Amino acid sequence: MTTSSVERFDASINKRLDQLRAAGTYKREIIIEGPQSSTVATADGPMRNFCANNYLGLASHPAVIEGARRGLEERGVGLASVRFICGTQDEHRALEQDLARLLGYDDAILFGSCFDANTGLFAAIATGDDAVISDELNHASIIDGIRLCRARRAVYRHGDVADLRARLSEASGEARHLFVVTDGVFSMEGHLAPLPQILDVAEEFGAVVVVDDSHGVGAVGARGFGTVDLYGAQSRVAIQTGTLGKALGGASGGYVVGSQAVVDLLRQTARPYLFSNALAPSVVGSARAAINVLTHNTELVTRLHDNVAWFREAIASAGFTVLPGDHAIVAVMVGEEERAAELATRIRQAGVLVVAFSYPVVPRGEARIRVQISADHRRADLEDAVSAFRAANEEFSIV
Ligand SMILES: Cc1ncc(COP(=O)(O)O)c(C=O)c1O
Repeated sequence: MTTSSVERFDASINKRLDQLRAAGTYKREIIIEGPQSSTVATADGPMRNFCANNYLGLASHPAVIEGARRGLEERGVGLASVRFICGTQDEHRALEQDLARLLGYDDAILFGSCFDANTGLFAAIATGDDAVISDELNHASIIDGIRLCRARRAVYRHGDVADLRARLSEASGEARHLFVVTDGVFSMEGHLAPLPQILDVAEEFGAVVVVDDSHGVGAVGARGFGTVDLYGAQSRVAIQTGTLGKALGGASGGYVVGSQAVVDLLRQTARPYLFSNALAPSVVGSARAAINVLTHNTELVTRLHDNVAWFREAIASAGFTVLPGDHAIVAVMVGEEERAAELATRIRQAGVLVVAFSYPVVPRGEARIRVQISADHRRADLEDAVSAFRAANEEFSIV
């Protein structure tokens, strides 16, 4: 019997999958049998959830669910069209205006995800005459977005403003427009970009600054309006990208906010906008409700910040090394890849859902457990998480 081309292809794919398993980087999905929340139902029973981006707990907030329900009932299941053909409802425009108002910009444009927003943005705004300078730890979607544009590209060392200046200096002169792009909050570290310093250097070279604040909006600053708002830098950051899939309800969707000119250009030319279906009305409804909660209720942001402060203090007192900062992403450093995986497994067995991250997602030898705090966590949840870390440590002697 001859081997068909499909069989040979599958065999080669299976070899690659085996390599991932051998390297310990094969990901297994934990199945959740209910809504996203601070406690989730799994086949192994309920687990306290410390790995969702559900910073304000809005994924299961009654007003946000009601927003989704109203969207579904009043505007239907979906548009079966891209936005520019017959896929723009009044509610899409209302959500865009909500986002623009929330973040302090002229206008906003929605995408199917922030991944789409980032992959569409740079090809639309940067030409072959321009240069884009990017932090080395920027999110994968920014990296891919820059790869898709014709501009000259350069990478600066993570958060290193002196290195950014060197890259800007190399690119200036030749480039028509210079762009500097950074995450507002780095998702594996939980620390903020040094935005004021980045802006000072960018302005020296006349560069346009773009911030992806996917982990900032809803989590950073006293109002929870994000990293750019924390520094009052709306007039200096030309463009922000972000997601509706984290603090803002957690459904899905992404956006770009900026000047009217930038948003108009994206509406005309951004490929993931032009060639992909409009956001579903339920998603639009949940995001609008989430923005409404965030705008009118600072209590959730305060509770998030209180929870973060309590947990950071308690886990450090338990002897663990955490990367410094005050964001809801708390990186508990372990070091060795296998030990991080074992520690996370043991903590999960204690009913606390956490995930270990190791190379190539983070540098080799810097494996960590990323804990994500939510406003939805009660003190008992936080105490249980710290106890689970302590108990696992007694077995593995990480600290
Ligand atoms: C910084 C950053 N940008 C973009 C994204 C992608 O967001 P979305 O899930 O909306 O595609 C993520 C999500 O992981 C992120 O952390």
